[in-house]
Formats: sequence, structure tokens, C-alpha cells
Amino acid sequence: MKIFDLSGKTILVTGANGWLASGFIEPCLSFGARIIMVDSSPAVKDTAVKLSKKYPRKVDTVIVDMFDQKAYQQALNKIAKTHQMYGIINNAFCFGKSNVETGAEGDFMSLSDEQWMTAFESGILWAVQTVKPFLPAMRKNKGGSIINICSMYALIAPNPNLYSGEFKKYLSQPTYTSAKHGLWGWTKYMASFLAKDQVRCNAIAPGAFSKPATDAKFIKRLKDIIPLQTIGKPADLAGAVIYLLSESSSYMTGQCLTIDGGWTVR
Ligand SMILES: NC(=O)c1ccc[n+]([C@@H]2O[C@H](COP(=O)([O-])OP(=O)(O)OC[C@H]3O[C@@H](n4cnc5c(N)ncnc54)[C@H](O)[C@@H]3O)[C@@H](O)[C@H]2O)c1
Repeated sequence: MKIFDLSGKTILVTGANGWLASGFIEPCLSFGARIIMVDSSPAVKDTAVKLSKKYPRKVDTVIVDMFDQKAYQQALNKIAKTHQMYGIINNAFCFGKSNVETGAEGDFMSLSDEQWMTAFESGILWAVQTVKPFLPAMRKNKGGSIINICSMYALIAPNPNLYSGEFKKYLSQPTYTSAKHGLWGWTKYMASFLAKDQVRCNAIAPGAFSKPATDAKFIKRLKDIIPLQTIGKPADLAGAVIYLLSESSSYMTGQCLTIDGGWTVR
């Protein structure tokens, strides 16, 4: 066995043009994978063109709004007809049409039912919908790896003191914690039920991987409480993703790799 080898494996990634995906897609290509990038942003094409220069015929894109369930199902069914999927990385998440960046709209008392439903739709239902069209073939082939990108807030709750005063806009909402806990629960369920077909399902729980535009004062506040005293970079996830997709993790299912600079140990 060549450990970490992904050659011949086709991997579908949702939210593929996002911040975290920018850290693990190219490493997967460099280990031999073929990647199907799903995103609503047309900019995913430019990203794919750049990657294709280095990895010709290894990158495909699907531009689709995953909130548009009919269009998304059609897109997935089309891919399932032409591609045998080995891996699926459920990475996309969106709080809703407004304030997508931080989701910082309101608190527990003011969040609307619609905001709750949207978080569960993007946090859990998108993963379910993405996996379904590919599962029959994965089970038949007796192999496959599903990775759900959760969050440390799939395991713990945010500390409200972090978001006091001027940092209120960075409040991590109860919708997020609840949806991510749900995704982690679904990970374990799928691991248990798919194991007999050698299809594995694991989670990754990133900690604070703030985007470069984040207020420096808030970043300092985060660094002060993170044991490793630094914010995560997207590339910090690459090793875990490659490990979970490759044969190296063939005896591992239903687990969560927490990559958070030690946040959750204290
Ligand atoms: N950034 C962090 O600090 C952090 C920490 C823990 C967990 N996470 C999780 O990691 C995952 C990726 O986070 P990120 O920071 O890279 O987010 P991001 O916002 O940078 O990327 C999300 C991607 O999803 C796409 N997307 C959004 N709505 C869509 C829709 N309706 N249809 C199709 N695509 C859509 C966006 O265009 C974007 O490219 C998420 O599940 C997030 O919850 C992020």
C-alpha cells in the first residue's frame, strides 16, 4: 500500500471555492485525486482553470446554488451518471441569503424560525442530499470515504465572553452549534450503517480558521485563548483530509479529527 495515495480516486467537494477548501484541494490533486468542485460562486471556474494548469484533466466544476434543491439534485444526478465517486467532502455551509460571512444576525431570542431552518438545511440536509446519489455505487464497489467538515462547535459551545462588547458581530450563533452537532451525529450514524459495505464516514472539526479580513483585535483575542497561540490556516487541514480519503485510514470510521490548536482541551 502506498500510504496517502489518491490516484484513480474521484472526490466531490462542496463549497469548493471557499476559504478552507483552498487549503486542501490542491494537496489532494498532488496526491493523485481527481476533484469535482461544487460551488454557487462562478469564481470557482477561475480557481479550477488555475489548478488545471498544474493538474490537467483532473478538475471539474459544477456551479449550482445548493439552496435550489431541484437544480442541485439534477446536477448531482448528472455527475453520478458519468463519475464513480470515491470520496465526498461535505464542506459547504451558508447561514442564509443575508450576512453570509459571519451569520452575525441576532441572538437566541431574535433568531427567526427561517434562520434555524436555513442553518439545518445547509448544515445537515446539504450533506444528506450530496451523498445520496452516489451511495448505491459506493456500497456496490465496497469502498468510499465521506468527510463531513464540522467545527469544534460540533463538540462544544462557544464562550459568550469572547463575543462581548465590540466583538458582538463575531457572535457564533446557536443555529451553527446546533447544526454542526447534528452533522457530527449524522457522521456517526452513517459510519455505523455503511460500515458493512466498507464505506467510511468521518468528520473534521476545525477550530478558529478566521479569514484574513477579520479584525486584528478579535484575532488577538482568539490567539490569547488558543493553546497553540495561533489561528488555523486552511493548509492545516490538508493532511487530515488526505489521510481520511486514503487507505491509510481504512480502519477508521465514525471518528472526528479535531484541528483547533488545542482549543477544546481547556
Ligand atoms: N472558517 C472557519 O473558521 C471554520 C471553522 C470551523 C468550521 N468551518 C466550516 O468549514 C466549512 C467551510 O468554511 P469556510 O470558512 O471555507 O467558508 P467559506 O464561506 O469561505 O466557503 C463556503 C463556500 O461555500 C459556497 N456556498 C455558499 N453558499 C452556497 C450555496 N447556496 N450553494 C453552493 N455553494 C455555496 C461559497 O460560495 C463558498 O465558496 C463550513 O462548513 C464551515 O462551517 C469553518
